[in-house]
This record gives sequence, structure tokens and C-alpha cells, in this order.
Amino acid sequence: LKEVKLIIVGFGVIGRGLANTLLDKRSHLRSQGLDLKVAGVCEAQGSIVSDSGVDLKRLLSSKPRWGRAKTQDVIRDTEADIVVELTPGNIKTGEPGLSHMVWALNSGKHVVSSNKSPLVVAYDKLLGLAGKNNLSLKFEATVAGAIPVLETLKRELRANKAQNIYGILNGTTNYILSKMAEEGVDYHAALAEAQSMGYAESDPKYDIMGVDTGAKLTILSNYVLGEPVKFSELTIEGIERVTPEAVHLAGHYGYAIKLVADVRGKTVAPTLIPKDHPLNIPGNLNAVLVETDLAGDLTLIGAGAGPRETSSALLQDIIETSKQL
Ligand SMILES: NC(=O)c1ccc[n+]([C@@H]2O[C@H](COP(=O)([O-])OP(=O)(O)OC[C@H]3O[C@@H](n4cnc5c(N)ncnc54)[C@H](OP(=O)(O)O)[C@@H]3O)[C@@H](O)[C@H]2O)c1
Repeated sequence: LKEVKLIIVGFGVIGRGLANTLLDKRSHLRSQGLDLKVAGVCEAQGSIVSDSGVDLKRLLSSKPRWGRAKTQDVIRDTEADIVVELTPGNIKTGEPGLSHMVWALNSGKHVVSSNKSPLVVAYDKLLGLAGKNNLSLKFEATVAGAIPVLETLKRELRANKAQNIYGILNGTTNYILSKMAEEGVDYHAALAEAQSMGYAESDPKYDIMGVDTGAKLTILSNYVLGEPVKFSELTIEGIERVTPEAVHLAGHYGYAIKLVADVRGKTVAPTLIPKDHPLNIPGNLNAVLVETDLAGDLTLIGAGAGPRETSSALLQDIIETSKQL
């Protein structure tokens, strides 16, 4: 049995989701020869460190008493193999996740992350640092949640040239546009419903404005296409100005309006999609369509968010990283 030690940084929706999945999958992972232990958990308010492994069941069921050790010290000084970075990121500075990743890579630890912002702000710097230190930095969970889009497009389709990638990469906006089409409600009513269902953040500004989709577009372009693109080079239009009349008219002529990222086009915009097109996905799903030279068009569809679904991508990255140890 190979023991691999993790440090979880950020114990919110996704951090707790991953902890639950580590408990659920313990015997499944052990049957594959892998024993994952959590050596430390860091929150904004403090940290818990245990050399023999943090008791996740207790941590999830009771109100934890966080110790005083700072995130920086836990990342640097705790004996561990992989730092799992799960904090919310500032899209302009990449912080606090950017510093967490740099500290991890500078102290010889691999990184797995669901946090887009550090990669959007400092993709080359982070990948360069990982390469220089012979460490891996994996971030499947940053784009389209549970859908294994990054590794599928990068590795499983490597015989192909990806001519372009189109994505519906934000579940909240897709839910709102789908509701507007199905029920004829306006944008505000659909947003309120998305919030009551727990799909939209209490401050969904970055989703609605297309910023979240743009951040994912930059990661797809850099990682899958190998084309460096900066967030500031994108043309982004959100869904704020999509009216019920526009949605109705589109429907009348056989189209749906979807918020689409056109990766080579470097744009995010509400786009007319024929109703029978594979990108016309319902509810809060995500979809990625890749146009390839050999395989033709392929579409991946699935859950773009959620603690359990996102932990699928995180765990996959952790397993892949563990193979290198
Ligand atoms: N939710 C999803 O479905 C989903 C899907 C894919 C990717 N993601 C990404 O995954 C990341 C986490 O999302 P989430 O939904 O779990 O967010 P969340 O519920 O807000 O949790 C983030 C946690 O990080 C903690 N934190 C903040 N600053 C910290 C610091 N300096 N050191 C240690 N911990 C710190 C926060 O503590 P406080 O609350 O005390 O500030 C909070 O507990 C985000 O980058 C998000 O974009 C989320």
C-alpha cells in the first residue's frame, strides 16, 4: 500500500466535499494500492495538522477547533506530498491561491487545484516553477467540474489537432437561460430561482458577466491548445442584456441562446445555437465541443459544479499525481 499525504487548503464547499469523498472511497482506493492520508487542513481562520492523519469524520461532523498555525507554515513545514488548493481566488491577483501554490512548489510538494484564478493570472510562472522543481501541477477541476475535459482533450486526443473548442462552462448562466426559454420568465426571476436552488452564488456577478467562463477559456487555450492567451485579451459579454423577448424570438426560429466560450475566437458571448445542436444542453449542465481533424466533432456533457461532482476531478488528479511518487 502506497501512503500519500495531502494538505487540504480551503475547507469550504469543495474542501468538505473532497473530505467526504476521501472517506467514501477509502476502501476503493486501498484496493488500488493507494492510502491517502490528510496531514493538514487549512482554513482562513486556522489549521489542523496531524502526522498520523487528520480525523476527517470528526472534522466534518463537529465544529473544529482550528489551531493557530498559518497556512504558509503548514504548507511549507508539514511533511506531505500534495497540496490540494481549494480557496476562492481573486481574478485580478490570483490570491490567496497563487501564494499557496508557489509555497507548495517551492517546498517540494505537488499541487492539485480547483481554483482557476492563480492559473489565469500566472499560468506560465506556475507551470514553469512546477517544471523547474520537477513537480506536477494539475487542475482538471478548474474547468467544467466533473467533466474530464482537460486530460481528455490533451491526452486522449493527442493524435488529433484540435481546430477549435466551444464550451458552455458556467452552470448558473445555463440554468438561467434554460429557465428563460422554458418558462418565459425574465432574467431576474430566473436568477432568483437559481439562487433558491443553490446553483448560483449569493453574489453571482462573475458568472452573469461571463468572467467565470472567460477564466475557464484561458485555461483551455493555454493547456489544451498550447496557445498562451491572457484574460485581458478576451472579448467578454455576459447574459445581463438577454431579454425574454430575444429568447422567445430565438425559440420561434428554432434556436436557443447560450453563453458560449469560443476558445480560438477568444470570445465569450450569448450565442444562437440550433435547438438540435449538441451544445443545446438543459439546466445547469456544462458542455464542451471540440472540433478535431481526425475524430471529427466530439461533445462532452456533464455536471460543471457541486462538491461531489468536483471531487471526482480532484481525486482523479490526486491519483495521477500519486503514480509519480
Ligand atoms: N463550488 C463548486 O461547485 C466549484 C466547482 C469547481 C471549482 N470551484 C472552485 O473551487 C474553489 C473553492 O470553491 P468553494 O465552493 O469550496 O468555495 P468556498 O465554499 O467559499 O470555500 C473556500 C474556503 O477557503 C477558505 N479560505 C479562504 N482564504 C483562505 C486562506 N488564505 N487559507 C486557507 N483557507 C482559506 C474559506 O474560508 P472562509 O470561509 O473562512 O473565508 C472557505 O472555507 C474556488 O476557487 C471555486 O471557484 C468550485
